Amino acid sequence: MEQWHDRILILDFGSQYTQLIARRIREAQVYSQILPCTTPLATILAYRPKGIVLSGGPASVYDKNAPMIPRQLLEEGLPILGICYGMQLVTKLLDGEVAKASHREYGRAELMIDDASDLFKGVGKGASCQVWMSHGDRIERMPKGFRSIAHTANSPVAAMKSTGGKRRIYCLQFHPEVAHTTGGVKLLRNFVYDICGCKPTWTMRSYVDTAVEQIREQVGQEQVICALSGGVDSSVAAALTHRAIGDQLTCIFVDNGLLRAGEKEQVKQTFARQLHLNLRLLDAAQMFLAALKGVTDPERKRKIIGKLFIKQFEAEAKSKLGDAKFLVQGTLYPDVIESVSFKGPSATIKTHHNVGGLPTKMRLKLIEPLRELFKDEVRVLGKELGLPDDIIWRQPFPGPGLAIRILGAVTPERLAMLRNAEAVVDQEIRKSGLYHDLWQAFAVLLPVRTVGVMGDQRTYEHVIALRVVTSLDGMTADWAKLPHELLGTISSRIINEVRGVNRVVYDLSSKPPSTIEWE
Ligand code: XMP
Repeated sequence: MEQWHDRILILDFGSQYTQLIARRIREAQVYSQILPCTTPLATILAYRPKGIVLSGGPASVYDKNAPMIPRQLLEEGLPILGICYGMQLVTKLLDGEVAKASHREYGRAELMIDDASDLFKGVGKGASCQVWMSHGDRIERMPKGFRSIAHTANSPVAAMKSTGGKRRIYCLQFHPEVAHTTGGVKLLRNFVYDICGCKPTWTMRSYVDTAVEQIREQVGQEQVICALSGGVDSSVAAALTHRAIGDQLTCIFVDNGLLRAGEKEQVKQTFARQLHLNLRLLDAAQMFLAALKGVTDPERKRKIIGKLFIKQFEAEAKSKLGDAKFLVQGTLYPDVIESVSFKGPSATIKTHHNVGGLPTKMRLKLIEPLRELFKDEVRVLGKELGLPDDIIWRQPFPGPGLAIRILGAVTPERLAMLRNAEAVVDQEIRKSGLYHDLWQAFAVLLPVRTVGVMGDQRTYEHVIALRVVTSLDGMTADWAKLPHELLGTISSRIINEVRGVNRVVYDLSSKPPSTIEWE
């Protein structure tokens, strides 16, 4: 995309907020890209960035292995914005003095702006604004040629800039990217527009044009296949590729028998009838259920489902589309960053099934048209491509489907029970208007039976657990404080309408230490 858009590079020193900086800049319609702080100078310059942000990070410049950048980067005349650790790094590299503060400054602080001529132009009300601090060390003496442009009660140098000479460096002791910093958005815009001279060209409309061109060029006259799950990522990736190459794309949707009620129908309706996309529906329910018979271990379930999925997909692709050369995948930018992260990949708690095994085995080349996008950008793109809201705003649904929500062995009877309970949860959550505020809301079928009474009859039946969580990215989550009336309605509807269930419980655990799914 480089020939089309101005670019800001963000060097990541491991701050939890690095992705947020990238998103804020992209919201200003300027393309931004995260690179590990260890990226060589020549590589950085080869990207021809209009400006560079040095992120915060957990290290102290005094640490033995403190991450560094070559001093030369500061002498290139490129606009640089150092945030927290980035500020301390600049100070250290340019022979200023960083001191260990006697106590960490964390949380809200009032910032007094002393120079509103460029970075702080129009930021805050009057000469002050609220900022979010999170740092241990602080600037004791600025490097030569720097001037303080804002202060707080605790930090005489809460922001500084270089004056004169070739350097165009700005540094902040606080985080402009977080919502608690009022005026942070304005500040970042001042940096990218006025100081770096970027133009706001990064829109999803322009993205569609560029991506369509690129896909056409990459694919030529070849055939392309895509595993469609109906989730937002694979749906948008498929729709975008279809926009580029039309009938050269064939999507394969595998019905593994572990789907929710109406799911297959919705995919058919949207992609075949509405978007007129080549869609093959593979009915493999019997095969999956046979393979899962008697299996109770969650990881074994995942492995069986993942392997069978690949086998089915491969067989279908080979027999019907033997000459396909490309595979579309809905990889997102956070996955890309994760794999090149300065912090290294995070530990695997559950083996998340994806189709990663496909291209190597099938010798297919990958098309990943969402590789540069964040989730919220993917949604805007989906809208741009005419996908219905139902797909764009769908809550995540795991690849192994209902199999990991039936604790113990998966049987047709248990599937039917869970599917019916799931449908009630879905209907009631949508009706309450809370669907979009929740990360996921679903039912889990427990492997226990409890005693109840219905009419004059004693019952001995199953228990459904409700799992409803809020989360930003699925990495951490909290149980949702749903209104009691809503919980009551869901519970009584499930007990009345779902045969075989006589009790409903609500899951009150957060992640960590629990996970979102029960298996
Ligand atoms: P956990 O249970 O690990 O879930 O807290 C975090 C998010 O990941 C989803 N999940 C999966 N997705 N295959 C998937 O495609 C899986 O095996 C899988 N396990 C969990 C889960 O629904 C939640 O959104």
